Amino acid sequence: MESKKQLLVAMDAADQRVRNAMYNSNALKLGLFAANCSSGNAATKVPERWDASWEHNVALARLADAAGIDFFLPIARWKGYPGESNFQGASFETITWACGLLAVTERLTVFGTVHAPLVNPVFAAKQMVTADHIGRGRFGLNIVCGWNEDEFAMFGEAPLAHDDRYELGAEWISVILQLWERDEAFDFDGKHFHLRGLRGDPKPYNGTRPLIMNAGSSPAGQDFALHHADFLFRGLRSIEQGAQDVTTARSTAVAIGRDVGCFSAAHVLCRPTMREAEEYLHYYAEENGDWTAVDHIVEMGGRNSASLDPEVYRRLRIRFAAGHGGYPLVGTPDHIAEEMARISHAGFTGLALSFVDYLSEFPYFRDEVLPRLERLGIREPLH
Ligand SMILES: Cc1cc2nc3c(=O)[nH]c(=O)nc-3n(C[C@H](O)[C@H](O)[C@H](O)COP(=O)(O)O)c2cc1C
Repeated sequence: MESKKQLLVAMDAADQRVRNAMYNSNALKLGLFAANCSSGNAATKVPERWDASWEHNVALARLADAAGIDFFLPIARWKGYPGESNFQGASFETITWACGLLAVTERLTVFGTVHAPLVNPVFAAKQMVTADHIGRGRFGLNIVCGWNEDEFAMFGEAPLAHDDRYELGAEWISVILQLWERDEAFDFDGKHFHLRGLRGDPKPYNGTRPLIMNAGSSPAGQDFALHHADFLFRGLRSIEQGAQDVTTARSTAVAIGRDVGCFSAAHVLCRPTMREAEEYLHYYAEENGDWTAVDHIVEMGGRNSASLDPEVYRRLRIRFAAGHGGYPLVGTPDHIAEEMARISHAGFTGLALSFVDYLSEFPYFRDEVLPRLERLGIREPLH
């Protein structure tokens, strides 16, 4: 019979491999995005849209873990959007969701997405340490500073002035990092937080700290991400544009002594022929787009039709219906693999992917696209 010590040594050896899943040799890290929310990222009325039940999340996480997917990234959402499909109306809270998924997977990093202005940093720091221990070093933090006024009203709060949200975010993450790093008690006095006698124990798992992501896109948001995140997001209006943005982000980071990776979001619609993919895109995102939800999001995001060329606005609305504005990876396995290779060569470190119905569509992607990415040299087979 194995002794308790032998069992613990065996677990630690496994940990050394899994803890570094986001630092593995895959040039392009791949994650599944928004699976904690009903409809995922597709603002569509089609009946097969994502049912984000717990059973579906567990089944998907296990499939993805076994296939070598690197991470799961949830959306922090407190209620849905107006419109017939109740887009993202049912969603799991992301840290508790991450705890559950970390307990049933072995390799992938699971992020929690946390609204800095809505969650006390002392509470958040301890919750995240708990998740990190459950996952034995596989928890990651996606910090969001908030933009959705409808949700803030649920908390009895009005969002701060735009750039002040990032000032608060910087204090919030500073409190958390100190709780994770410092052994002695300390006080914190900022503009937004005045906290006394702080201490945090245990520390994150085994002397590491959770990876940090942020998707700020305004100048203040980008500046925050460059200073505080390991991974940041850049939009992909086109791959050429994305390449320029990555070069700028990385060189700006280097100038302030930081090393960051750039991610983007994309929706995948993979079919044996281009025609089948385009027809299904037309069916779910154009014929059955939830336009009330899409228009609400596009307008809350400050992009109104008056300032855009009508054709650009039409394409933007279809991208929002198809995948919340992410980059369209629509077509055959060859086409999608080539597009992903171009994105990787443009300098991106990773992609957060969504599907209309993750569980029924992921296996085809796994079987047809992942091996092509290995042949193209941007991913390695899972050993
Ligand atoms: C990939 C990605 C994930 C995001 N996840 C969330 C989220 O879960 N909850 C949320 O309120 N905002 C989310 N956002 C919004 C951003 O945090 C940010 O507020 C938005 O991009 C606007 O940027 P700005 O705050 O710099 O103006 C996300 C954005 C992106 C691109």
